[in-house]
Amino acid sequence: MTWLITGGAGYIGAHVVELAKSSGRNLVVLDDLSSGISSRLRNDIELVETTLLDSASVNRVFDEHKISGVLHLAAKKRVGESVERPDYYWQENVGGIQNLLSAMKTHGVKNFVYSSSAAVYGQPDVLFGALITEETPCAPINPYGATKLEGEVLSRAMAESGGIKVAALRYFNVAGAGRAELGDQYIFNLVPIVFDALERGEQPIVFGNDYSTSDGSCIRDYVHVQDLADAHIAAMEFVEKSDPGFTAINIGTGQGASVFEVLAMIQDVTGISIDPIIGERRKGDPAALVADVRLSKELLGWQSSRDLRAIVTSAWDAWKLGHK
Ligand SMILES: NC(=O)c1ccc[n+]([C@@H]2O[C@H](COP(=O)([O-])OP(=O)(O)OC[C@H]3O[C@@H](n4cnc5c(N)ncnc54)[C@H](O)[C@@H]3O)[C@@H](O)[C@H]2O)c1
Repeated sequence: MTWLITGGAGYIGAHVVELAKSSGRNLVVLDDLSSGISSRLRNDIELVETTLLDSASVNRVFDEHKISGVLHLAAKKRVGESVERPDYYWQENVGGIQNLLSAMKTHGVKNFVYSSSAAVYGQPDVLFGALITEETPCAPINPYGATKLEGEVLSRAMAESGGIKVAALRYFNVAGAGRAELGDQYIFNLVPIVFDALERGEQPIVFGNDYSTSDGSCIRDYVHVQDLADAHIAAMEFVEKSDPGFTAINIGTGQGASVFEVLAMIQDVTGISIDPIIGERRKGDPAALVADVRLSKELLGWQSSRDLRAIVTSAWDAWKLGHK
């Protein structure tokens, strides 16, 4: 029995692949290497280099392997790019999952773990201090988040029609590295953005210090990518042994960290003094986004175990190895 991991050469996917392999799973990776890096995969991992948009190639993977479950991480994930090229994001993210689910249906494969995102919630209308539950209404505010939600809508419909069993993992802010070689290579999230500024001898910008939070900066829920990898294994085992229909599950820590707290941790870990520039608030930035994580504990028996220091330390080790 083999797990198919799409996007397995990507930042998060490579952590999932490594953990699945070390826990004795047979697996095959499908990745078009559009942002993935093949050297993230050990030599004994089979990589099928193709796009999910090529449905003949996707079906061939199912023909040639005894796939028992699919962990679907492949997607385009740049919010800004999605605003400029929404049609491309629909084609890649929605077209990709559509081909994949059709191939699963054709081959009678039922177990599905989907990389969703907290981006499906958009700017949730919750009282300050309240946690985001899976019942919080989904209202994405950019095309990227909308495509992640479309993937949920389609997989839910296919679960309801009796075809598949789905755990849709709504990740909050993913950061860190399981080992330095697997780190995130792109500069789109707070931690690498700050590293990048510091490396160029500049100070990072804090977008708004007048939110109604304890120190005025925005609060987010940062989850270590290695904890996230653990959650994927737990999610696939959950889907394999039960019949959840379609279940969306938040993957976070349940603890928020403010931008100033992250900066203080970065200063501590790197030893580089930080005196941030205070900028204007950014449009569409909610004051706080923190996951209610009761469902992941209850259904998956999973909770995060690594703290902000572990996230920043491992991310810094990865950054020092090189980035794009
Ligand atoms: N990184 C985050 O903070 C975050 C947060 C929430 C959700 N997610 C989701 O997690 C998943 C993985 O994200 P990541 O951070 O590892 O990104 P990544 O860009 O490092 O990995 C995505 C992988 O998918 C591959 N890919 C993209 N389009 C493909 C296609 N059409 N066919 C085949 N392969 C394709 C890429 O080559 C890459 O290896 C994505 O679905 C993303 O939406 C990420």
